[in-house]
Amino acid sequence: MPEKICPARRLSGTVVLPGDKSISHRYAMLAAIADGPSTIHNYSQGADCQSTLGTMADLGITVERAPETTMIHGAGLEGLRAPARMLDAGNSGSTIRMLAGILAAQPFDSSIGGDDSLNRRPMRRIMSPLAEMGARIEARDGQFPPLTIHGSELYPIEYTLPVASAQVKTCVLFAGLFASGITSVVEPIRTRDHTELALQEFGVELDIRRGAISVAGRQRLSPRELTVPGDISAAAFLLTAALLVPDSDLVIRGVGLNPTRSTLLDVLASMGAQIKVLDIQQMGGEVVGDLRIQYSPIRGGTISGEMTAALIDEIPALAVLGAASEEGLKVRDAAELRVKETDRIGTIADNMRRMGVDIDVHPDGFDIAGRQKFHAARLDSFGDHRIGMAFAVAALAAGGESWIDNSESASVSFPGFYDLLRSLAN
Ligand code: S3P
Repeated sequence: MPEKICPARRLSGTVVLPGDKSISHRYAMLAAIADGPSTIHNYSQGADCQSTLGTMADLGITVERAPETTMIHGAGLEGLRAPARMLDAGNSGSTIRMLAGILAAQPFDSSIGGDDSLNRRPMRRIMSPLAEMGARIEARDGQFPPLTIHGSELYPIEYTLPVASAQVKTCVLFAGLFASGITSVVEPIRTRDHTELALQEFGVELDIRRGAISVAGRQRLSPRELTVPGDISAAAFLLTAALLVPDSDLVIRGVGLNPTRSTLLDVLASMGAQIKVLDIQQMGGEVVGDLRIQYSPIRGGTISGEMTAALIDEIPALAVLGAASEEGLKVRDAAELRVKETDRIGTIADNMRRMGVDIDVHPDGFDIAGRQKFHAARLDSFGDHRIGMAFAVAALAAGGESWIDNSESASVSFPGFYDLLRSLAN
C-alpha cells in the first residue's frame, strides 16, 4: 500500500512507543517454557512478535492476546508439543533463529519457515553451533529456511560467536537450557544482552564474565509478570525526524535505555543533538526512561567497528540524518546490513538516489556527503519496515509530497507509525 508523506514544518508532541521487539520475543519464548502462567504488559503488537506468539500456540502453549496484556501459560521445559504444521516465523529473523535453539532440544521434529524475505536469510550461523551440540537440521540449499529440525538430546559446548549476533548468542543459550552441563557463549564483540537479563528475570542462574556467558542446563524457569519497555529502535525514527525538521520538540515516553541498545543516543549527542533523559527507572532488569529531543543541527561523522554492530538496526535512520548533516556520514563494518530484511545498503542507496541524494556504496557500508537536499520522490520500503520508516522521515524534509510503496511493512515493528508521524507534524 502506498503512503503519502507531506513535508513537515515542525514536529511536536508526546509519544508512547510500541513494546521492544527484541525483549518481547525473549519474554514470549521463556514464558512458554516456564512452570506456569506469565503476564506480559506492553508486549509488541508488531507482526514479528505476533509471529512468535503464533509459533508458541502451534507448539501447544495457550496464549491469551489482548492489546495491553499478553498471558502465556508456560508448560515447563518438557511441555512443548509437536506442531501439526510448519511453524511460521513470518518476516522475523529473531523468531526463527532464537526458537531453533529450543526446537533442536525437543523430543519431536519440526519445520519452521517464513515469508520470501526470511526464506532468503542465512541460517548457517545457528545451524553450526546447534550441530556441534548434536542437533540435526536440514535447510533449503543447506543454508536457508525453511528449516527441518530433528529434535534430540543436546550436549553443552563452548561457542565463540564468529559474527556479532545476539540472535545466535540467544539460540545457543536457549539450547544450553536443555543440555546437561554448562554451555558457554563467548562474544568478541558485545551484543545486546536482553537474553541474559530475561533469563535471570525468569530465575535462571548465569555466570557472566567479560565476554562470556555460561548457563547450566536443566534449570527450571519461574513464571513472571513483566512489562516490556518501549522500543528504542522504533524511537530512532522519531529522534532522527526531530533532528531533521527545524523547531521540532518531542517527548518520547518509556524508552528502553539498555546500554547495549542505546549507542544511538551517545552517537547523536556526540554529533550535537540536544537529547535529555528524564525519569529513569528499572523494569525487569532493563533500564527505562523518557526522552526529550529538540531540533539541533547535526555534525555527522563516521560509524565503524563495534559501534556499527551496536546500532546496526538504527543505520537506515542515521543514513537519512547523515545526508542533512554538516559533514555527512560514513558507515563501515556494516556488511551485516546486506543480510537483514532487505540488503539495506542497496535499499538505502536506491531510495537516496530517488530523492536526488548522492551516496557512494561500499561492500560493507556507504559514504553520504552532508548538506544535501531531499527531493520529493516515489520511494519504496521494498518490504523492509526500517527502510520504509527511515525514508518517511526523509520525506518530511522534502520539497513536496512523497510516496512510500509497500509502506505496510512498518507493522512488523511499529504498527500505526505513519499515522503517528502525521499526528506529530503540525
Ligand atoms: C536482534 C539482534 C540483531 C538485530 C535484530 C534483533 C535480537 O540481529 O538486528 O533486529 O533481538 O537479538 P543479530 O543478532 O543478527 O545481529
